[in-house]
Amino acid sequence: MNETLNILLVDDEPNILMALRRLLMDEDFGVLTAESGRVALDLLRETPDVGVIVSDQRMPGMTGVEFLEQARGLVPDALRILLTGYADMEATIAAINRGGAYRYLTKPWDDQVLLMTLREAVTQVRLRRENDRLTQIVNRQNEELRQWNGRLKSRVLEQTAEIRKKNEELRTKNSRLKANYRDTIGALSGLLEMRAPHMRNHARNVCALAMGVAAAMDLPEEGREELQVAALLHDIGEIGTPDALLRRRAEDLHGEELFTYLQHTVRGQMAIDAITDLRGAGLLIRHHHEHFDGGGYPDALQGSAIPLGSRIIALADFIDRNLPRHDERAADLVLIQLQPHLGSRFDTSLYPYFDTVVREHYGPPVNAQGMVPRLAQPAELYCGMVLNEDLFSSTGLLLLSRNAVLDDQAIAAIHRYHELDPFRRGIAVLTPR
Ligand SMILES: [Fe+2]
Ligand SMILES: [Fe+2]
Repeated sequence: MNETLNILLVDDEPNILMALRRLLMDEDFGVLTAESGRVALDLLRETPDVGVIVSDQRMPGMTGVEFLEQARGLVPDALRILLTGYADMEATIAAINRGGAYRYLTKPWDDQVLLMTLREAVTQVRLRRENDRLTQIVNRQNEELRQWNGRLKSRVLEQTAEIRKKNEELRTKNSRLKANYRDTIGALSGLLEMRAPHMRNHARNVCALAMGVAAAMDLPEEGREELQVAALLHDIGEIGTPDALLRRRAEDLHGEELFTYLQHTVRGQMAIDAITDLRGAGLLIRHHHEHFDGGGYPDALQGSAIPLGSRIIALADFIDRNLPRHDERAADLVLIQLQPHLGSRFDTSLYPYFDTVVREHYGPPVNAQGMVPRLAQPAELYCGMVLNEDLFSSTGLLLLSRNAVLDDQAIAAIHRYHELDPFRRGIAVLTPR
């Protein structure tokens, strides 16, 4: 703040300049002098760092007022003080109006008053300069802040866009993973169906029934996913069951044979136990041959101690294995067959849901109104026929689902499959009466 500040004294009388210099000798500002307005203006052009100007009014060539007026153009920020005689009121007014004078002092002056005035003026100039300096800093900092904010905003926008992109990628990867997961479960389930032809589509049917019941019961999403996996894989342990046993109905097995057969529950659980995410499903698989009354395998669990998913799979499993496939009354018949086992093998409280879902799945097909079931050879197919059961190739590949209405495209596909892998028996269709 205390940088050297110059004051400029202008008077045509050297004695006065000298007296003033002496007076100001000990002050903390520099003193410049000039003996005429002209010289003073030249000096200001060379040394614009002048904070206070003191000028005599009466000078030859250029009056103090004229000089101050021009000096104002060169150093507008300098404070200007006029020295005048007592009678020079006119000059004083002009100095204030035209020269923008800050003060006027009368000649002869009082040293103390002059000193006080100059000190005050210097202080004021210093304060004003300091104020300007601080204002500049504030303005610069404001500008920096503004730029920084701008950069911050665009950085935030960039990062938001980046995060959004990453999220999108994650979502894609996640859904790919999920699809892979489902495909893997499907493939595992398919392996078993290839192992035992009579099991063809069993896992898928059990899964469809279980999912229908889960929806009817409004089970939470997470529980449904676990149930779906368990239903698809519930008999995966049968991969290790001897062929001779697999060819027979579970209901016809007793003693050691039945025990061997039932071990597929524990084997199934163990088969997928290494996959952490499948452990919940593994538990449902373990208990799908428990009986509601506690007479089942492997842990003789009773009632609600048996996981709900296992109770659902047990019922769905029974229904699929005992469904008369080629009977219009299939739904009624299987539900009747189920009745004696409610409360002993199966959970009675689940029955109403199964009643609805079984009728939806296996009741007379909507397309069957006024149609006749028959077995047709591929060459006999025509558009408008309806498939009366799922259509598999001889090697067990699902080609078309029950209820599909045949059109040219479907018939062409069936012919093509028939050439590659001939159907051993006719195709179950419904034909218009
Ligand atoms: Fe089973
Ligand atoms: Fe089963």
